[in-house]
Amino acid sequence: MILVTGGTGLVGAHLLYHLLLENESVKAIHRKNSNLKAVKNVFSYYSDDFETIFKKIEWIEADIRDIYFLEKAFKNVTEVYHSAALVSFNPKDYSKMRKINIEGTANIVNLCIDKKVKKLCFVSSVATIEKSIKSKIIDEDCEWNAETNNYGYAITKYGAEMEVWRASQEDVEVVVVNPGVILGAGFWQNGSGAIFSKINNGLPFYSEGISGFVSVSDVVKSMILLMNSELKNERYILVSENVSFKEVFFQIAENFDKKLPSIKVSKLMSAIGWRIEKIITTLTGKQPMLTKQSSKSIHNKQYYSSEKIIKALNYKFEPILETIKSVCELYKK
Ligand SMILES: NC(=O)c1ccc[n+]([C@@H]2O[C@H](COP(=O)([O-])OP(=O)(O)OC[C@H]3O[C@@H](n4cnc5c(N)ncnc54)[C@H](OP(=O)(O)O)[C@@H]3O)[C@@H](O)[C@H]2O)c1
Repeated sequence: MILVTGGTGLVGAHLLYHLLLENESVKAIHRKNSNLKAVKNVFSYYSDDFETIFKKIEWIEADIRDIYFLEKAFKNVTEVYHSAALVSFNPKDYSKMRKINIEGTANIVNLCIDKKVKKLCFVSSVATIEKSIKSKIIDEDCEWNAETNNYGYAITKYGAEMEVWRASQEDVEVVVVNPGVILGAGFWQNGSGAIFSKINNGLPFYSEGISGFVSVSDVVKSMILLMNSELKNERYILVSENVSFKEVFFQIAENFDKKLPSIKVSKLMSAIGWRIEKIITTLTGKQPMLTKQSSKSIHNKQYYSSEKIIKALNYKFEPILETIKSVCELYKK
């Protein structure tokens, strides 16, 4: 029996569908206010028979911070896909991120060890991998550097990864995936999904920063392949291509037949922008669209290598332009 955490999020919902396609017995945790309809909506992108497929999931209410309920979810579980996390660039969320991302993962790891789970797949992030000193390209051997000025989300995902490596010392086989920016359909109001709605609504800004992008289907397919393989106790970067935000934004706008974003955000503009956002969100209590960290990261130029997983699984990633096209089609639906 498989247990999935984060099944009500972008990665988890697509993962659940792909696991069910393979006729796996699947349990998933959700919280009281989780949006299960969003998961059904994702399933509807794949199949007309989505209601029947959705009913195959055994849903259990549990928060990863709450060991009592989490333990109930682990009954008869042999494999765990741990995707749940709080993804935020808002410094105000730092202590909550520590609780969910680090302590929540420690709870998952402790239960995996205690219940003798065979294999654990953890969804980490390229945020836990440092820029290489030797070369321009970042790969899995680029070590985390505690001295650099890291930000809350990265620190907590790194802390979570450390918990996961502990499991590998205790007879639980572990695979860790480190995806770049994940593009996929279904969650249009937050995370990477919000890029599509914002551009459809006429976002005029773009930046020339570069990052690694990957489709959600490549993320979940490679997670399943890794779990079903003999590979263990390794981490794998999942990036299809290193592309500029400009290119991604322009492609999305073209697919929506919208005017291309025309205002290039300079470092000065984003430095002013996050400060204004800070004042507005302090007054309104809303989540900021731009924070000090995100205003910096949109200008970074990061190049990642996925050679390790390509070689290990003979894997072929979907080109990002194809991903953008298909996600835009689903958005229009
Ligand atoms: N999206 C990206 O571009 C990206 C890139 C690299 C890595 N990642 C990693 O990929 C994973 C999945 O990301 P995503 O984009 O799918 O995120 P998402 O859409 O925000 O989903 C997050 C999931 O985590 C669950 N969750 C949060 N706090 C929880 C808690 N205390 N207890 C139980 N469940 C909890 C959420 O449940 P609710 O529905 O109840 O909120 C939701 O199912 C994360 O680990 C993230 O760090 C994402």
